[in-house]
Amino acid sequence: MMIPVEIIKLKRDNKTLTKEHLSFFINGYLSGEVTDYQMSAFLMAVYFNGMTEEETFDLTEIMLNSGKTVDLSYINKIKVDKHSTGGVGDKTSLILAPLVASCGIAVPMISGRALGHTGGTLDKLESIPGFRVDYSIRDYKKIIEKVGVVMIGQNSDFAPADKRIYALRDVTGTVDNLSLITASIMSKKLAEGTDAIVFDIKMGSGANLQNLKESEKLTKYLISVSKKFGKKAIAILTDMREPLGYKIGNWLEVEECLEVLNGKIVKDLSKVNNLLSGAMIYLGGKAKSIEEGEKIAEQKIKDGSAYKKFLEIVEEQEGDVSYIKDWKNYKQDKYSKKILSEKSGYVREMNAYKFGLASIELGCGRKKITDKIDYLAGIILNKKCGDEIKKGEMICELWAGDMEKIGRAEKIITEGLVVSDKKPKERKLILDIID
Ligand code: URA
Repeated sequence: MMIPVEIIKLKRDNKTLTKEHLSFFINGYLSGEVTDYQMSAFLMAVYFNGMTEEETFDLTEIMLNSGKTVDLSYINKIKVDKHSTGGVGDKTSLILAPLVASCGIAVPMISGRALGHTGGTLDKLESIPGFRVDYSIRDYKKIIEKVGVVMIGQNSDFAPADKRIYALRDVTGTVDNLSLITASIMSKKLAEGTDAIVFDIKMGSGANLQNLKESEKLTKYLISVSKKFGKKAIAILTDMREPLGYKIGNWLEVEECLEVLNGKIVKDLSKVNNLLSGAMIYLGGKAKSIEEGEKIAEQKIKDGSAYKKFLEIVEEQEGDVSYIKDWKNYKQDKYSKKILSEKSGYVREMNAYKFGLASIELGCGRKKITDKIDYLAGIILNKKCGDEIKKGEMICELWAGDMEKIGRAEKIITEGLVVSDKKPKERKLILDIID
């Protein structure tokens, strides 16, 4: 018989836990024997003392086995998914999932909600009225067979341990730990029945792991767990020092994805999206190289097939298709404020972490588990790093349900903005590709 507090104390004292310890603690959390406050203390001990590679693998396996693993081998297509380690304005899943599916590759996608200062695919999808992300395994299989793509969340069937622990990490300052990130991502990816995975590893202030060495180790862990479970994997390291694209916030990000799916090129977002899609198309056997996959990705946007597939997903997952098609009638939140530049020069910094925190203040994320999200809240950028700006010109616009939230967000944003006299050097967006 094990006692929860003894396991917490072992990790607190930097001892290595056995698979039995971890299994007792995680499964005990699901059964109610371990409480939220004990799990929070445990996560904080892991945050400070870390886990060995073996503990990380064990944790991943236990979290995976807390639910079921789907067998999609009856679908006669290669299945490929993508998962990001988390970023600000990082909305590529909504573009690349339909895009890659439109190439004849199956895309089974189990995603997460907002986490720490970063947004989550599920919250973005739920900003579409009616859109459901809570399907059973039976319905999940039906949807992927019919549409070629499905986008859902963890539930009592899929990695339920991640669903509970993820929500707790979001509000207890325990997101940025590489073992917890590995187990969280991989328990979902291994449960969903994919053959191959493309990882988007975010680097810089807006990433969940801001330390370069830790990010390199995370890449190694994600690839080695994938291999251990017989999955092909490619990791792409991308810059996350400034938000990706021009829109941050749940509905606002869906809106920007619709713009891209309808042919607009948003420099950094389109580049990252096409590269990730290219890697997925390559792993899905529809291109001989990532570069060829990128060209196919561009084509699938140009000829409208990616957008058409997106509408099919919305329809199948019970979202309001007319809301999506209604380009001219996009909803806006009640209040807004334009943030203006106090001097002329060049935008040197738009700190992605600060923009992420500000978006939580506006109502895009949660401060405690029970908080309701304001789907229309968010930030629209008018400038990006490196752009020239005149004194009094708008840098960005904040949207929220009340002015107090806007006031608090403005304070955080201004701490993350730097305008300098000299034009800064152009940033490298794609930092590495590990095939
Ligand atoms: N994405 C996840 O699913 N989990 C994490 O911990 C971070 C990013």
